[in-house]
Amino acid sequence: LGVLAGGIGHDFNNILSAVTANLSLLIEKLSGEEKDIAEETIKSAEAAKSLASQLMFFSKGAAPLREKTGTHKFFENLFNFLLRGLSAAKNVYIEENLNGIEIDRGQITQAISNIIINASQAVASISNPRIDIRAENYYVNKEDKSNLSSGNYIRISIKDNGCGIEEENKKRIFEPYFTTKKKGNGLGLYMTYGIVKNHGGYIDIVSQKDKGAEFIIYLPALSEPFKEKKDEPLSSSIKKLSIMIVDDEEMVLKSLSRIIKSLGHDFFQAKDFQSALEIVSKNKIDLAFIDLTLKGDVDGYFVNAKLKEINPSLYSIVSSGYSSQGVGNYKERNFDAAMPKPYKLDDVKRIISDYLNKDLR
Ligand SMILES: Nc1ncnc2c1ncn2[C@@H]1O[C@H](COP(=O)(O)OP(=O)(O)OP(=O)(O)O)[C@@H](O)[C@H]1O
Ligand SMILES: [Mg+2]
Repeated sequence: LGVLAGGIGHDFNNILSAVTANLSLLIEKLSGEEKDIAEETIKSAEAAKSLASQLMFFSKGAAPLREKTGTHKFFENLFNFLLRGLSAAKNVYIEENLNGIEIDRGQITQAISNIIINASQAVASISNPRIDIRAENYYVNKEDKSNLSSGNYIRISIKDNGCGIEEENKKRIFEPYFTTKKKGNGLGLYMTYGIVKNHGGYIDIVSQKDKGAEFIIYLPALSEPFKEKKDEPLSSSIKKLSIMIVDDEEMVLKSLSRIIKSLGHDFFQAKDFQSALEIVSKNKIDLAFIDLTLKGDVDGYFVNAKLKEINPSLYSIVSSGYSSQGVGNYKERNFDAAMPKPYKLDDVKRIISDYLNKDLR
């Protein structure tokens, strides 16, 4: 079942990639209500992505594909998105200068979303329901006798005034299939626990029966805030690049090519290893987006290694619908960057501008 779920999640992300890539391109050309509609549609596609990551979580390995993330904006968007539509009173406090984090955004979104869903269920039959969320910098000293090793963390507290947790259940709530709900699966917190643990973090619970519950997540953080690059001016004005896409999915080839073209670069499509070899032998390719799982007997690692033998200065980006399978440590596998699916125009822009900045340095 795990393998099946992982496979479905992966195919899902391929399909979603075409959706988000095309839509993000369309948004640039729209305005007013039409733009709003397209933006809403992208949000739905992103919600579907979180479903795909749930499926994949239960498949083999769920190594996070970490990216440096500007914490304040990430949490602000996430909390607003997750609290939207809840009728409970809610209060969100996010410290101004939060240190950056290096996280798998999809997984952390999932982990926090599971907790907020629980909180909203816990307050469902309370007279003055409230959910309070805080995100703050947190530093652990060597002398601290905590469960955390010393260093910088982000402390995220999600507190509700709902039904609370019985003392004897506290030990069990992270177990798979432990639930006290009629329609619960008992998988939400199990998943959250696994994700936080895989990120080197820790979860604390403070709760008493009928007195609400507080879930506190500690995530290892960088030692300073991380500024995400704003939409930079189109890098294409600086230099026209030759970019190859290696992917066995027609819809991925098409949508990514369209983005590359719109950015003013040349694109080359390879649907298998042989065509990729040919293209790199005959052309001076600057960047290559390489799908990790190609049909046939070669995978993206192999393709990458062979292409770099022909063109050692090739800048290669691993692009996969899986966040497991070692994509997390793409650098060790000799890739220069990673771009998880589904992606949008901005993701491609960011990769290209990283490449150009690297060249300028
Ligand atoms: N905020 C909360 N307040 C009270 N009890 C909670 C809270 N969060 C979790 N629990 C308890 O922990 C149990 C396990 O939670 P978990 O999210 O893993 O599963 P679930 O919510 O029951 O089902 P699923 O998330 O799979 O739909 C819940 O059934 C509930 O008893
Ligand atoms: Mg739950």
